[in-house]
Amino acid sequence: MRLMLAAAVAAFLALPAAAQTPVERGKYLVESIAGCGNCHTPQGPNGPIMSRALSGGPPMVEGKLFTAQPSNLTSDHATGLGRYTDAELKLMIREGKRPDGSLIGPPMPFNFYRGLADADLDAIIAYLRTVPAVKNAVPKSVYNIPLPPAWTPPIAEPIEAPPRTDKVAYGRYLAGPLGHCLECHTPMGPDGRFQFDTMLGAGGLKFEGPWGISMSRNITSDPETGLGQWSDAEIEQAIRKGVDRHGRHLMPPMGYAYYAKVSAEDMTALIAFLRTLPPKKMP
Ligand code: HEC
Ligand code: HEC
Repeated sequence: MRLMLAAAVAAFLALPAAAQTPVERGKYLVESIAGCGNCHTPQGPNGPIMSRALSGGPPMVEGKLFTAQPSNLTSDHATGLGRYTDAELKLMIREGKRPDGSLIGPPMPFNFYRGLADADLDAIIAYLRTVPAVKNAVPKSVYNIPLPPAWTPPIAEPIEAPPRTDKVAYGRYLAGPLGHCLECHTPMGPDGRFQFDTMLGAGGLKFEGPWGISMSRNITSDPETGLGQWSDAEIEQAIRKGVDRHGRHLMPPMGYAYYAKVSAEDMTALIAFLRTLPPKKMP
């Protein structure tokens, strides 16, 4: 009897997640772990202007290499995504290809978005369709670096997210394709390429902006320069609140306010995965 009750409760608790509509799932992803607005929402003197959420972010300047203009993702037909079909948006978000054949540039995180599961990509698009239209013509980005002919070979096979029961695998999916944590937290080599194979999570990338200069930290399990000696609660506080274990406030561009909305279950998986990152010394 007691067992049956437990099973019934478990089934009931499992329901809300299963019953989430694609739009709800997409809203959750965009507003939490994916944090699209961290780049795509305009900034005012007091932070993001949420009444114009996702209508185009401030320019992202990388020295003389590029000035990228995060696009208007609202449903506006003339200046937003309203003019594109779902299939076109899928190619744009995951493979960085516009319908006219032109490539979408960095720092839109294609390294990682190519791993977005079909169901999550569909959910993100379903949600973007519901974002109130804001008319805002974003200027064209300027790239003084050559962009490759394509970011990825065309994706031909279905992509599925790992099962949530496998916490570490699901956490890897959160830290990679969905949250692109590992992009900001992996250093580049002298050739300007990310050292994903040898220095995954070791930190040391510099970010310049209105806040000054910040440098991403080491999120590997290294006990001296990484998170090896941090408790789960300390890691969670850094991610959600932007406060490190010494009480120091962390600077942008990490999207703390978005990660504050990550579900408890996803946060557990994310931290379980971070624990498995082989120790590396911060460069
Ligand atoms: C790190 C910053 C960053 C994040 C995070 C980011 N984007 Fe972008 N995105 C950009 C920039 C910059 C551009 C413009 C690049 C260009 O002009 O070539 C862009 C372009 C796009 C475009 C092309 C629009 C057009 O009209 O050409 C789409 C669609 C898009 N982003 C969707 C998303 C979605 C959905 C998310 C979240 C899942 C997201 N982006 C997260 C920076 C970002
Ligand atoms: C847009 C770049 C960016 C993204 C994306 C990003 N981070 Fe960060 N992160 C930073 C920077 C920069 C700092 C350091 C800020 C400072 O020192 O003031 C930081 C700090 C941290 C810290 C504090 C570590 C310490 O030693 O103080 C943790 C933990 C962390 N990030 C984890 C994550 C996780 C997990 C994700 C994905 C959910 C993530 N970050 C996504 C840029 C980023």
